[in-house]
This record gives sequence, C-alpha cells and structure tokens, in this order.
Amino acid sequence: MHNLTSEDRHANDPFEPGPAVVLKREPLAPNLQLLTVRAPVVASKIQPGQFVIVRADEFGERIPLTVADWSPEEGWVSCVFMQVGTSTYKLGQLKAGAALPTFVGPLGKPLELERWGTVVCAGGCYGIGSIYPVARALREKGNRVISLVEGRSKFLLYWLDRLAAVSDRMLVSTKDRSIGDNGYCPGLVKGLLAAGETVDRVIAIGCTFMMYEMAEATRPFAVKTVVSLNPIMIDGTGMCGACRVSVGGETKFACVDGPDFDAHQIDWDLLLARRKAYLGPEADSAEM
Ligand SMILES: Cc1cc2nc3c(=O)[nH]c(=O)nc-3n(C[C@H](O)[C@H](O)[C@H](O)COP(=O)(O)OP(=O)(O)OC[C@H]3O[C@@H](n4cnc5c(N)ncnc54)[C@H](O)[C@@H]3O)c2cc1C
Ligand code: FES
Repeated sequence: MHNLTSEDRHANDPFEPGPAVVLKREPLAPNLQLLTVRAPVVASKIQPGQFVIVRADEFGERIPLTVADWSPEEGWVSCVFMQVGTSTYKLGQLKAGAALPTFVGPLGKPLELERWGTVVCAGGCYGIGSIYPVARALREKGNRVISLVEGRSKFLLYWLDRLAAVSDRMLVSTKDRSIGDNGYCPGLVKGLLAAGETVDRVIAIGCTFMMYEMAEATRPFAVKTVVSLNPIMIDGTGMCGACRVSVGGETKFACVDGPDFDAHQIDWDLLLARRKAYLGPEADSAEM
C-alpha cells in the first residue's frame, strides 16, 4: 500500500480533502476491470459524461477515466478501465486499501441531458460502463432508451443486466456472432434508422474508431450524434493543449470544452492521426 506524502495530499487537493482509497478492484471481462474508489467530494459533484484523472502510484502518469457509477450518499466512484499499457496495467494491480496519489474530478463538461424522446445509447469496450449512467439519467428524464452494446465476443461483454434495467430496448452485436449479428453498434443503429425507427439523438462511447463509425452511420439520417472523445490528455484542465481537437472548424480542448462533441462536426482525420503520434513512446514505456 502506498503511504501518502504531503505532496501526494496536495495532488488530491482541492478536489478531494482526504486520500482517495481503493475500495474494490474486480475483473469484469478479460482485460477490463472495475475500479471503485472512496472519493466523497468527487461522488457528490460528478455528473454523467464527466471524467476523473487518476495516478496509480507516485511515479505514474495522469490518465483520464470516465465515470461509470457513483454514490453521493456512500461517497464512492467507479470507473471501468481497459488494460492497454503501463498505467492501466498498474491500476489493474491495485488492492483494496491502496491510496491513490491522484484522483481528481469531476473534469470536463457534464453531458447535455434533456427529454428528447427516443435516445440511442451505444457502448463498446470501457464505454459499456461509461454509457450506463447516461442511459440511466436519460430514462429518469422520461426518454425511451434504446441501448446498443458491442464486443468481439459474448465473454468480453459485461453489465448487460444493469444496462437492460435502464433501457426500454437493448440490442447486442458481437464480431463472432456469439450474441446478435456482427454489425457492431454502427450496424445496429443503421439498421434501426433504415427500418424507420424515430431516433431523436444518439450518444456513443467507445474507442475512437467506433465513435467515428457511429458518426458515419447516422450522418445520412441527420440524427444528432454525440460522442465522448478520448484524445491524449495531460493536465485535463485546458493548460497543455495536448487534447486539442477540431470541431466545426474550431479548435477545442476536449478536457474543458468536452469531452462530448457533435460527432458530425468533428475532424476525424485529424483526430485519428493525432492519436497515432504517441504509439512509439507508449510501446517503449510498456516494455520497461
Ligand atoms: C476523457 C477521457 C476518458 C477516458 N475514459 C476511459 C475509461 O473510462 N476507461 C478506459 O479504459 N480508458 C479511458 N480513456 C483512455 C485512457 O485514458 C487510456 O487508455 C490510458 O491513458 C492509457 O494509459 P496506459 O499507460 O495504460 O497506456 P498507453 O501505453 O499510454 O496508451 C495506450 C493507448 O491509450 C491512449 N492514451 C495514452 N495516454 C492517454 C491519455 N493521457 N489520455 C488519453 N488517451 C491516452 C493512447 O493513444 C494509446 O492508444 C479515456 C480517455 C479520455 C481522454
Ligand atoms: S489535457 Fe491539457 S489542455 Fe486538455
């Protein structure tokens, strides 16, 4: 367990007055884990669509994670993370009781949530967890929620029961067809729209390519589509410029102007190219 120094305490301050402590870490699927942290201040303020920045240990980099669930009453926050490199590997080694040197939030703008009518909520990978509080909030506002879930196979999916409980309809797609067909969320939403389903808004969270494909799937039908971008972030407070994206011809910082943006306004070519820029150093770090 990591003992906090006064510098570490400052890293939590002013967001969290005491140390953020791991309550539970559990595997949800191969490579995907749920991290639940005692963080009463974050839990009392967080809203769907927002994220936290976490450091697994005092040598670790700051990584952004979207919130998947929280309890203001009990003072905890949960995130689903995929182990893709050094920092998420370290998170996956944490034990209950470990103190996190950094757990700051809520960061980013809350997602716009209104009573629109029928809303499609799509999630893939860690986004299945991140879309859950969005679907729950939209249902509470009186929307009809259609949830779409994708994964390579049935054994890589999780929280289907939780998502079903806050959805009016749920459709699942897997690459190996172990559940549903293999069109993934873009194929599912295209199918719904082509069949004449009235959809007032689409919200998608997953890997960048999935969100790009969702944008292309809904573009011909002119259904407003909002995605939660996950570019490289460093400070998460609008200072470093690492997370800049181009939306509607304007430069935006995903950490403070987003992370949620109109998918039809995003310059996807630029975004996908920028994400590749750090692959070399990240591979080196993972080998260390
Ligand atoms: C607003 C936001 C919310 C996110 N929410 C989640 C979430 O809920 N669950 C989850 O599993 N992942 C989430 N991510 C992505 C997550 O932050 C990265 O997977 C993580 O930083 C990877 O770190 P690593 O050292 O394990 O891997 P690395 O080896 O550093 O990188 C592996 C991959 O992660 C990307 N990445 C690396 N550093 C960052 C960074 N600082 N910010 C964004 N992407 C990065 C790289 O482009 C690369 O594709 C989110 C990203 C953003 C920007
Ligand atoms: S992460 Fe530095 S400006 Fe957004």
